Amino acid sequence: MFSTSRLLFALALSPLLVSAVPADFAVQPQSEQTRLSTISDGLDWRKSGWADPRLGGGQMLDFTLPDLGEPINVIISGLSDPFVLTHEGLHRYAKSIGFSEECLGMHMGNLHEADLGDGDGRKIEQFLARQHYFPIWGTCWESVRGGNHFRAWRQNGTEANSGAWFLAASKEKYVGEHHLIDTDGYNKGRDFIVERAAAGGRWKNRWWKADVEWKEGLLEPGSDGVNHDIAQDGRVAILTVRRL
Ligand SMILES: *[C@@H]1O[C@H](CO)[C@@H](O)[C@H](O)[C@H]1NC(C)=O
Repeated sequence: MFSTSRLLFALALSPLLVSAVPADFAVQPQSEQTRLSTISDGLDWRKSGWADPRLGGGQMLDFTLPDLGEPINVIISGLSDPFVLTHEGLHRYAKSIGFSEECLGMHMGNLHEADLGDGDGRKIEQFLARQHYFPIWGTCWESVRGGNHFRAWRQNGTEANSGAWFLAASKEKYVGEHHLIDTDGYNKGRDFIVERAAAGGRWKNRWWKADVEWKEGLLEPGSDGVNHDIAQDGRVAILTVRRL
């Protein structure tokens, strides 16, 4: 149940979504709860399988540097195959969509934190997956060459225990000795995951395929507060991963 102040807080944070409510809305009175759930399903994680982090004081940018972050642009909903929501399950699932096992958990550079608004406050990334390139040099080639990767945090604090994975995906390029986010690297990194997840895949004997829903209004489009000053389109992909 949401208190009135929480609902108002959510409204204040969702100007784009609120302005989408038709002007003649008042002639069809509904309860406040119903009205809000039509605006954003991230308000009720028991139904949607994820909670809008802003409701609990979090945000959809991670904390890369004190004042800059990378967009959290994919959510694996808590309505997904329960196995995928476990740590081990996410490893296997990541492999099924083209990320490597050997490089899972290998941390490059600094660790990013995220506040998912679940009562845990800022927590350190729980997962790092890098794109699997083969057969050249085994599976960690991507960490040398650049490519797609994602970091993940689980929304499982006591305030919003949806079990969803929140992913910050991006595509890097390797320039000399430096890894840089590609031009349009946040959108590209997200789209790489979404395409593979929607196509479906398998790891060993388990097959998965994801339903994809796009959300606007969770992330501000543009590059305000975004690390490397690389603009992104503000769209977040909500994946519901089903076991086939
Ligand atoms: C939340 O998920 C993380 C990542 O899998 C795990 O390490 C942690 O133990 C979980 N917390 C609880 C309270 O279950």
